[in-house]
Amino acid sequence: MVLENSKVIIDMDSCTKCKACADECHFYYFESDELMFDETMEEFCIECGKCVAVCPVNAIILKVHKEETLKNVPAKEDLPSFDSLVNLFKTRRSRRQFKDKPVPKELLEKILEVAGKYSPTGHNQENVHFTVVKDRETLKKLSEECTNQVTNLVKTFEDPQGKKTLETSFPPAMIKKIEEILPSFKRALKRIKSGIEVWRWNTEIIIIHSPQDALTLIENCTLAACHIMLAAETLGLGTCSLGYITAFFNQFRPVGKIVKLPLKHIAGYTLAIGYPKARYYRIPARKSLKVKWF
Ligand SMILES: Cc1cc2nc3c(=O)[nH]c(=O)nc-3n(C[C@H](O)[C@H](O)[C@H](O)COP(=O)(O)O)c2cc1C
Repeated sequence: MVLENSKVIIDMDSCTKCKACADECHFYYFESDELMFDETMEEFCIECGKCVAVCPVNAIILKVHKEETLKNVPAKEDLPSFDSLVNLFKTRRSRRQFKDKPVPKELLEKILEVAGKYSPTGHNQENVHFTVVKDRETLKKLSEECTNQVTNLVKTFEDPQGKKTLETSFPPAMIKKIEEILPSFKRALKRIKSGIEVWRWNTEIIIIHSPQDALTLIENCTLAACHIMLAAETLGLGTCSLGYITAFFNQFRPVGKIVKLPLKHIAGYTLAIGYPKARYYRIPARKSLKVKWF
């Protein structure tokens, strides 16, 4: 016999009535020792699969993942120790020099398959998208378009008439932000003239984006990025967060158009990824922790 609704199927013959599912999720309850669904909760079920995870006899199936093989939770000994995690956290640094050596597609797939797929998302929406740019020509075009856009922005800002036009089109807070960032844009343009690629450090990139109506969009993309950065490090790759290029994807349509970024998507994070050139020997100290305890 099965108990079924639009989201889950329970094999009642296997169910031992241990109540683990009901303890884990208030969508389930027991009445006269019988497992029941709260039908008023059905539409709110986010298909997180905690009921599946906690069922000791594997009696619950999530319809959305019906065809997927369930993986067993690894043994505690197979998880990285706290000390090895500490080493990983401290070793990860933003790299700005990369070897001219493409990252094998399989390696990126391997990273995304776990780091991209298993990072948490608000309401379990699992709506984080990845655009990986490896093609040298496309990468070159991207950098050139970023430079064009920034050059135009600087020029417009330095022209009194142009600045006035911008002030009528954009909110004051945004104008103030651009004004603050202008000196660093000018420095970037100077470095570009001297042959340095400053937007993506002349390496491949992963753009992490989501539909614009996604809940917790920035948080989801940032968490995925964080997992990718750490996973990459374990495979001998280096990464760098690319805040500028993320902003360009969202502010300058021609930049997003080069990689066919969907119109109704927002780029939440961009990472440079490649084989780091420099070897780091030391971990500089960090400012003391700012923490309050109540
Ligand atoms: C949201 C965010 C955006 C960033 N954007 C850039 C960027 O556009 N270019 C760059 O070279 N570094 C960028 N960084 C890297 C920071 O400068 C770097 O994380 C910081 O200096 C600390 O160094 P670490 O990452 O090596 O620990 C960014 C970092 C974050 C978190």
